[in-house]
Amino acid sequence: MTKSLIFAVLIATAAFAQAQTSDKGGTGASARTRTGGTAAMCIGCHEISGYRVAYPHVYHVPKIVGQSPKYIEAALKAYQSGERKHPTMRAIAQALSDKEITELAAYYGGGAK
Ligand code: HEC
Repeated sequence: MTKSLIFAVLIATAAFAQAQTSDKGGTGASARTRTGGTAAMCIGCHEISGYRVAYPHVYHVPKIVGQSPKYIEAALKAYQSGERKHPTMRAIAQALSDKEITELAAYYGGGAK
């Protein structure tokens, strides 16, 4: 039960990531709003301290707020390239453009909120 619920959340996250990706050409929204929107898909896992993801294994989710922007950017690129192997973060990183990665790194690296 818990497992299938979390799986449903993952699917929703993936669908959201795709919607974000297809919006890439859009220009209307400010960078701030766009980053806020992209960051919304990270909040569920990364902004609850001590939170754990239970699918497919139990992972402790690291806190990324306040990490250095360079570290966050390097980590996301490593997930994107497959150098880091966590399946969920790989799927998420692969849905992000380089620009979004830079924006997210600045957003979280700057302390967010
Ligand atoms: C479904 C839950 C989930 C979502 C959503 C998620 N993450 Fe993660 N993230 C994780 C887990 C679990 C790890 C630890 C993976 C590992 O052990 O390699 C992680 C690791 C990371 C790391 C590496 C942290 C470190 O200390 O090495 C970064 C950076 C990161 N995520 C950024 C993001 C960003 C940015 C987003 C939104 C675009 C996001 N994550 C969305 C679960 C998630």
